[in-house]
Amino acid sequence: MAQLWGGRFTKQTDQLVYDFNASITFDRRLFAQDIEGSMAHVAMLEKQGILTEEERDSITQGLAGIRRDVEEGKLAITEEYEDIHSFVEAVLTRRIGEAGKKLHTGRSRNDQVALDMKLYTRLEVQNIRECLRELLATLLKIMEENLTTYMPGFTHLQKAQPTTLAHHMGAYFEMFKRDVLRLGDIYKRMNYCPLGSGAFAGTTYPLDRDYTSGLMGFEGPTLNSMDSVADRDYLIEFLAALSTIMMHLSRFSEEIIIWNSNEYRFVEIDDAFSTGSSIMPQKKNPDIAELVRGKTGRVYGALMSLLTTMKGLPLAYNKDMQEDKEVAFDAIDTVKNCLILFDGMLSTMRFNHKVMEQSAMRGFTNATDAADYLVNRGVPFRDAHGIIGRLVLHCLEKNTSIDALSLEELKEISPVFEADIYEAISLKTCVEKRLTVGAPGCAAMEDVIRKSREFLKSLEGREQISSKCKDSYSGKGEQITNE
Ligand code: ARG
Repeated sequence: MAQLWGGRFTKQTDQLVYDFNASITFDRRLFAQDIEGSMAHVAMLEKQGILTEEERDSITQGLAGIRRDVEEGKLAITEEYEDIHSFVEAVLTRRIGEAGKKLHTGRSRNDQVALDMKLYTRLEVQNIRECLRELLATLLKIMEENLTTYMPGFTHLQKAQPTTLAHHMGAYFEMFKRDVLRLGDIYKRMNYCPLGSGAFAGTTYPLDRDYTSGLMGFEGPTLNSMDSVADRDYLIEFLAALSTIMMHLSRFSEEIIIWNSNEYRFVEIDDAFSTGSSIMPQKKNPDIAELVRGKTGRVYGALMSLLTTMKGLPLAYNKDMQEDKEVAFDAIDTVKNCLILFDGMLSTMRFNHKVMEQSAMRGFTNATDAADYLVNRGVPFRDAHGIIGRLVLHCLEKNTSIDALSLEELKEISPVFEADIYEAISLKTCVEKRLTVGAPGCAAMEDVIRKSREFLKSLEGREQISSKCKDSYSGKGEQITNE
């Protein structure tokens, strides 16, 4: 048991209590952030004359050494420490002696953990944003290549009107674009530094909070020290944003599962992103899409869990808040994995253009356009709707489609029909005439694609983002030996 407290205790902590209370098994993930925060704190303590230059240098070098040794696998973060903060301070003091004990001057673990969690979340907001950017790039490519890939659009999962694959993918582009923008909003709102709030009431040391905040790239210090240590709103907002991303991915997955079924055959998922059955040799299952859909629940769960944890807490810090970490870490990992895998599945998926187009030609997807044809020739829309309804019924009885009827047959139902009806309700016309902003017609889509390209470009190099969405320090499963 290695604790940072104990002076006022006369008994050893019960082992079960110690284990129940300890957070090292999961907050070790905050290692890099804990070092970063401590370095900023120490730099400020020296600037304010609270530490000497020698003490600052000794602590800073000690912290850098610990970081290097953990990263290189020479120093293990073991469970003998209560939490990541205790680990860093204990190793530092062991290594540099007395100066190490001064690191925590003017600081509490309450503002320390608030800072660590904020730094970690801020980094992950950017990582997730980068994953979304890659998915958006994949979507845009599919859009650009499929402006005239006709397919049925659905309402109630019933064929409704024809559209294009570009248009359908464009709907997801808009959803993930909103997700990116939402993350940007969260980033802006959360980017204030809690360090220097102490246990909750600030401190009597002359800390320069603007200075530490600036060192770590925050907009400024938080303005109420009680709120600073009690606030997890930013994490709740982030989990809500992650839940929305998963909801979007889950809907998309559901469509891919349907499209990939034998009945639809709109798409074929690449072998590398499908799995087989242990008993049925013919099977090729869309497991990745199913898992993404399935994992949505645990991300929603994380949001509900943290909301519930926070709802009854009196100000300021309460140990309940330690429960923010495991669920948040799990949700972040889950969403990153889902985004990366989904992008891989989508970018390698084949779209069966022919099947989609044939499907769009069946199921009366041109019925609205047939009604509009009559309207354009003076029939009131409500009457036109009735006429086409009867026409569809007639076709259903004869097991045929509107465009397969002869002009005589059509005229029997309404004398308004002329020879130009066939052109007017062809698949191509039905789509290409739809030119309102946001509609599937080629010219309208081209305009949207141009805007989407600009949007993607605006995301490039906006912030420093760690490469390829991988954890800088996962804290999990590494093989490291103790010093
Ligand atoms: N492990 C704690 C957490 O995650 C760190 C803060 C501890 N503060 C305290 N007063 N016990 O919240």
